[in-house]
Amino acid sequence: MAKKERANFGTKLGVILATAGSAVGLGNIWRFPYQAGEHGGAAFILIYLGCVLLLGISIMVAEFLIGRHSRANTARAYQVLAPGTPWKWVGRLGVLTGFLILSYYSVVAGWTLEFVGEAATGNLTGKTASAFKTAFEAFTANPWRPALWTLLFLLITHLIVVRGVEKGIERASKIMMPVLLLLLMVLAVCAMTLPNAMRGVEFLLKPDFSKVNSDVFLGALGQAFFSLSLGMGCLCTYASYFKKETNLTKTAFNVSIIDTVVAILAGLIIFPAAFSVNITPNAGAELVFITLPNVFQQAFGGVPVLSYIFSLLFYLLLALAALTSTISMHEVVTAFLHEELKLTRKRAAALVTLGCAVLGILCSLSLGIGRDYTLFGMTLFDLFDKGTAKIMLPVGGLFISIFTGWFLDKKIVRAEITNDGSLKVPLYRLIIVLLKYVAPISIALVFINELGIL
Ligand code: PHE
Repeated sequence: MAKKERANFGTKLGVILATAGSAVGLGNIWRFPYQAGEHGGAAFILIYLGCVLLLGISIMVAEFLIGRHSRANTARAYQVLAPGTPWKWVGRLGVLTGFLILSYYSVVAGWTLEFVGEAATGNLTGKTASAFKTAFEAFTANPWRPALWTLLFLLITHLIVVRGVEKGIERASKIMMPVLLLLLMVLAVCAMTLPNAMRGVEFLLKPDFSKVNSDVFLGALGQAFFSLSLGMGCLCTYASYFKKETNLTKTAFNVSIIDTVVAILAGLIIFPAAFSVNITPNAGAELVFITLPNVFQQAFGGVPVLSYIFSLLFYLLLALAALTSTISMHEVVTAFLHEELKLTRKRAAALVTLGCAVLGILCSLSLGIGRDYTLFGMTLFDLFDKGTAKIMLPVGGLFISIFTGWFLDKKIVRAEITNDGSLKVPLYRLIIVLLKYVAPISIALVFINELGIL
């Protein structure tokens, strides 16, 4: 895209909500609860919050300033800022990461469509807890249905990306995000009134540090990057649409707060709900699709109309939240192919959609008939999930912090963070220290620890 073609997000609120639209998605509502469950609950959440505060916000500011200053796709951004250096590979790694995440993410996004259908046709009421489990397992093991939903989701994403996204994303996010927040709050209150709910709240709030090991750290770090859309140039691409007046630090804070609130709310729904029906929350990635339907029917047991409305609204919003995230990933890869391979935007988008469709279907099948084909002991779906979140995104974040903290001209960094000196940013020094020392050292330490070298 040439400079003059680059559109801007229209309003301050639009910037925050569109960026939050990328950040808030399945990562918060589907992935966060099961990651917390698998990694022991409250202690994981504390470490997660530490990662958001110390690494997430500063790296988000770094991605913003790289994107806004270069006004280019993420790989080109490094060529603009550091011509003739290998830094462009950080951008390219991001593009690859986005492509891989989009592939398996579309599978889960597809499940949300199935559940919209199930909710709409009233199929999510009148079942026992175990019937929900059996139905979901049968659904994901089916070779056709989930694959078709994956394709449909990719197609919807494709159509929006091809048409140009700025207005669409901004407008949709402005309506959707507040409704999503409100609905999550109501559901959290409902979940907490279920029998045994307090055991779930305890699991969420009472840390057991005896369970903490290097894998918990890496899990929390990866989840923070995944949830904040960090480490793959996604926010860098969005920031290339920011206006000159946008306050990067404030935006990073606001987006991180919204993202964290949504994740914690999701936890406050899922954990009490899981304990109330005796499901251990480490059950895995299916919590949102097995435990939640049961909550809807139990919480509003006496009034079926209410459980119908709530479940339909919830899966609809979940699908939309996933959509604003898939659009942002698709956009990263499409912009890259369009600008670097000189393909038309339409062709570039088609290539991304096709590639993701093939990989997405393979990921989907790997949960059913392909279950026995494993790589490094994992199904393709798990390999994509863990490989991207636990390795590729943190590696991306490591390099982004080193690039901004050590390599990039300080004048550019200061000019972008303070909007050419017109903003007072009291945390400026802290952000630089975090980018220069805290982020690279702590990410490297987590990796070294995980590899067992320390
Ligand atoms: N942050 C998104 C979510 O939580 C996922 C995502 C990851 C989006 C990386 C863009 C880039 O669902």
